[in-house]
Amino acid sequence: MNGDRRFPEGFVWGVATAAYQIEGAVREDGRGESIWDRFSHTPGKILNGDTGDIACDHYHRWETDLDLLVELGVDAYRFSIAWPRILPTARIGEVNEAGLGFYERLVDGLLDRGIKPYATLYHWDLPQTLEDNGGWANRETAYAFADYAFTTVERLGERVAGWMTMNEPWVVSVLGYERGQIAPGRTSLTDSLAASHHLLLAHGLAMHAIRDLNPDSDAGIVLNFTAQHARSDHPDDVAMERFRDGTNNRWFIEPIVGMGYPADVVADLGWDLDPVLPGDLEIIATPIDFLGVNYYTREIVGESDATPTVVKDPKVTDMGWEVYPEGIYEFLRRLHRDYGMSKLYVTENGAAMPDVADAHGLVDDPDRIEYIRRHLAQGLRAIDDGVPLAGWFVWSMMDNFEWASGYGKRFGLIRVDYENQKRTIKSSGRWLADVIRSNGLPAGEQPNVL
Ligand code: FCB
Repeated sequence: MNGDRRFPEGFVWGVATAAYQIEGAVREDGRGESIWDRFSHTPGKILNGDTGDIACDHYHRWETDLDLLVELGVDAYRFSIAWPRILPTARIGEVNEAGLGFYERLVDGLLDRGIKPYATLYHWDLPQTLEDNGGWANRETAYAFADYAFTTVERLGERVAGWMTMNEPWVVSVLGYERGQIAPGRTSLTDSLAASHHLLLAHGLAMHAIRDLNPDSDAGIVLNFTAQHARSDHPDDVAMERFRDGTNNRWFIEPIVGMGYPADVVADLGWDLDPVLPGDLEIIATPIDFLGVNYYTREIVGESDATPTVVKDPKVTDMGWEVYPEGIYEFLRRLHRDYGMSKLYVTENGAAMPDVADAHGLVDDPDRIEYIRRHLAQGLRAIDDGVPLAGWFVWSMMDNFEWASGYGKRFGLIRVDYENQKRTIKSSGRWLADVIRSNGLPAGEQPNVL
């Protein structure tokens, strides 16, 4: 620990969003239906019956939104591309020029403002036609994704600073196909396991497409990591920690680094590995340039009747998620040490808070600042320990459609008033701009003091 509160020179500072959460304009310029349109219009799926039909109307307001990025002072912006805007029915060759045009203007608008574009190819908005054909449980979807990746990277590749193939395949496969909490809302373990494999296969195929088109580009995948801690040292609780860490955290990173699926979890789940065909694991293990890490919280696991020794911190966000900054340090270290990751970005970290806006729309959000500050401090701690952390993207640039929670949960550094689409930078946004300007935490905010 050298006590340095500065981030390394060239550290990439950014904020993140995703297409369906902000764009709206779901029927405009030839965009096809996605599984999120279908899901959000199915009664009872989203809190308060919210949908992404309008969202932040970013599709029409992108230019002034990019101006707000300049005010935040970011070096980089992570956004996602809506597959159904590019290939409305996902049929090969049926490219929607208007959809590509939107992202070309967005990317050029970022470059004009000196901001590096980091694009995610899949942030959950699968074309509905593919879901009708089995969705991610069908191997064909992986090939359709490779085609979409090729089309998109061919057009935008040279202008995009970083490509992210997939966002959080755990969430897609488990919450979407096993627990039914997000689109497409299915509840089958068999489908979920097949989906997880096809998502990884799609990632590997897309990596090849990116490499073929732009050998020098920076490309990787974004995984979510949730700390899993046994509530006591009772063997049942410890076994639960191993299992949950296996399904949540090891399941995706291990095949990516060439270790295949974790054998203990495959056995626990009784998976027959049927979808895994010869050669798949090699494709999945195509080298990545970086790993994107999304981190929010931890879970205390186990149900033994032993006296708990690990207790959840009472500080929770508006999602009910425990504030546990040490977890991000835990993962950054582990991904470097155990999995040999040579470049890491934190691609999402942030907090929903019960913001209160004054009459002018101003939001003072010290709890969000505290959340971000404490996590950044853990990032510095990891850097001090030699972890190659190259950048940090706060979730989210602005309040948006928080999936099954709708508009009720606000993660933004910028307030959105959904009545009139007015944007107002929150205290946390101003604070982050200061952090970025000084490339470090303000004096007195020691990295090792929590
Ligand atoms: C992540 C998602 C992101 C956002 C945050 C809160 O799982 O990638 O779109 O919803 O959670």
